[in-house]
Amino acid sequence: MVKEAGQTKLHIDLHRHLRENNEDPRLIRLICEIAEASKYIINSIRTGDLGLAGTSNLYGEEQLALDVLSDRILVKRLTYSGVVAKIASEESREVTTIHENGDEYYSVAYDPLDGSSLVDVNLAVGTIVSIFKGSNLLQPGRKQAAALYILYGPRTTLVYSTGKGVHEFSMNQLMEYTLVRENIRMGDKAAIYSPGGQRNLYTQGVESFAAYLEENGVKLRYSGGFVPDFNQVLLKGKGIFFYPHLKNAPQGKLRLLFELNPMAFLMEQAGGAASTGRGPILDIVPQKVEDRAPVFIGCREDVAKAEKFIAAGD
Ligand code: AHG
Ligand code: MN
Ligand code: MN
Repeated sequence: MVKEAGQTKLHIDLHRHLRENNEDPRLIRLICEIAEASKYIINSIRTGDLGLAGTSNLYGEEQLALDVLSDRILVKRLTYSGVVAKIASEESREVTTIHENGDEYYSVAYDPLDGSSLVDVNLAVGTIVSIFKGSNLLQPGRKQAAALYILYGPRTTLVYSTGKGVHEFSMNQLMEYTLVRENIRMGDKAAIYSPGGQRNLYTQGVESFAAYLEENGVKLRYSGGFVPDFNQVLLKGKGIFFYPHLKNAPQGKLRLLFELNPMAFLMEQAGGAASTGRGPILDIVPQKVEDRAPVFIGCREDVAKAEKFIAAGD
């Protein structure tokens, strides 16, 4: 049951929610295909092989069997959905073209199983998806038609936005995604922070920002999985996640197309902010599919503070 502005909404599932929001039927199809794929990804997380796949991904990182399997599940669903022009995956070396002249179709960039190295210790992981209309994947994130993530934790959570607010769904006993909360909003100031990257590699500006948060009683909450860490910040509405530029990695670690653009879209839709430390994530024009960027994402005041510390210290 969901309560919103005095009225009660009973058992609205994802499909109905999209339909009632008057979304393009092709976009509805696409999002529902991804939601279907997630059921098979859950199954592979619960029971699949935890070993290496013996292959490497777009970034030259060793792939786990689970990374490859989750990618295959999504590729198959998207390829046969009939609504997809191009597919780019963190786990695939090439962009796949399904429809050449894809103006009326959608292109998708995704990380099929973010945090996969945490499955062997039974921590939470997720799928992150960015969707553009047409066939150009190298556009600023602000042009996304939709963004979503699915969090595989003790429960399964799906959060999506098509640019009309951010909405949370939870999987029920029938494996349907049902509405939990509409129009999630961020507060102004963080109560928790999730700092990625090794602290002794922080630049002066980032170090001063981390110290400022600690001095102000902001509590540390970091699992090492971007999706659960981000989900905590977003759903509590009072936090900041950052994976900054490091002394030995000026672009940080996280990937613009597969991880940052979709999360930044959701965060801005919820009234929060997402910055590289020097400007909005969503304004970056990607040069390559594999681009990375530093990220500070969460409550507006804290993201602005991070930018100030970086401008002064770096
Ligand atoms: P992936 O599993 O797709 O390679 O990404 C993991 C990411 C993200 O989940 C997390 O925020 C970050 O890597 C953690 O990085 P460290 O290993 O540097 O802590
Ligand atoms: Mn990832
Ligand atoms: Mn990944």
